[in-house]
Amino acid sequence: MLRSTRSLAQRTARSFSSTATVFTHPTKPLDPAPLPSAASTAPPPPQPNASAASGPSTHFGFKDVPEALKESMVKGVFSSVATSYDVMNDAMSLGIHRLWKDHYVKKMDPHGGMQCLDVAGGTGDIAIRLLDHAREKWADRETHVQVFDINPEMLEEGKKRFAKTMYHGGPQVSFTLGNAENLETIADNSLDLYTIAFGIRNCTHIDRVLKEAHRVLKPGGVFSCLEFSKVTNPVLAKAYELYSFNVIPELGHVLAADRDSYQYLIESIERFPPQAKFSKMIEEAGFTVPKQEPWEDLTFGIAAIHTGVKL
Ligand SMILES: C[S@@+](CC[C@H](N)C(=O)[O-])C[C@H]1O[C@@H](n2cnc3c(N)ncnc32)[C@H](O)[C@@H]1O
Repeated sequence: MLRSTRSLAQRTARSFSSTATVFTHPTKPLDPAPLPSAASTAPPPPQPNASAASGPSTHFGFKDVPEALKESMVKGVFSSVATSYDVMNDAMSLGIHRLWKDHYVKKMDPHGGMQCLDVAGGTGDIAIRLLDHAREKWADRETHVQVFDINPEMLEEGKKRFAKTMYHGGPQVSFTLGNAENLETIADNSLDLYTIAFGIRNCTHIDRVLKEAHRVLKPGGVFSCLEFSKVTNPVLAKAYELYSFNVIPELGHVLAADRDSYQYLIESIERFPPQAKFSKMIEEAGFTVPKQEPWEDLTFGIAAIHTGVKL
């Protein structure tokens, strides 16, 4: 197992230059239109009580909220979208999130009976792809994915989806309710691959999430994050900003009668650190980030894949 982990780490480090794929070049035909995916919505914010309000504050979209409340607000967001999450994801992104996720999993190339943890795994989009990839490419039925999420409703949707797959009732998937900032149920140095897709920006303390990822990975294990990021070309960035702030909340209003939720989506993307800063945070958590390509931009940088290896 360690051998296969090492090889993933080595391949990951090596492959950064070779996997600068079609997604990284704006003029290639597979570049989809610059639309966001991964719908998330905002519930009416809980009223701060006196003790929560007196503590440190953080952001929830563009709002400043007491740090102690953010977790429950984010939970509320995903409780309210859980049943429509997958449909909305496709509608909002015109299916582009599927291309990103396919590429993300292909890049990780899970196989060889790996122990994987998919944090903020939600409805299982990444977990299913990890297992399908291992089976289809490597005839591997040993790789295991633990889907880990803070929201019981999202996990429930994930279980329903898995119930329709060949993995249902088998040993390759498990589900855990918990906070990415505290993986207390998971032993040190126990995992080969840690994935988190469109989840980390919703966490209150990103540094704690990264530290925990580092703790649970084996030496040679790989951390991989797919998240919305910053469009690098200034002209496209302006167009994307106009689209995001004007069209997305309207779409949320029309499709889901929920303008506020989509406003939160856009704001939370805007607040997430740019590629270079996030890459530095990954390094500060103890990971080795490949020098040649510390991250990979997808579709002009609308999303990016960051990978780090625990050496
Ligand atoms: C936008 S969804 C992404 C779901 C899935 N990874 C995907 O790509 O389709 C974000 C997920 O992060 C989860 N989440 C938010 N904060 C979390 C936290 N602190 N710990 C664990 N999961 C969290 C939410 O419950 C939700 O299921």
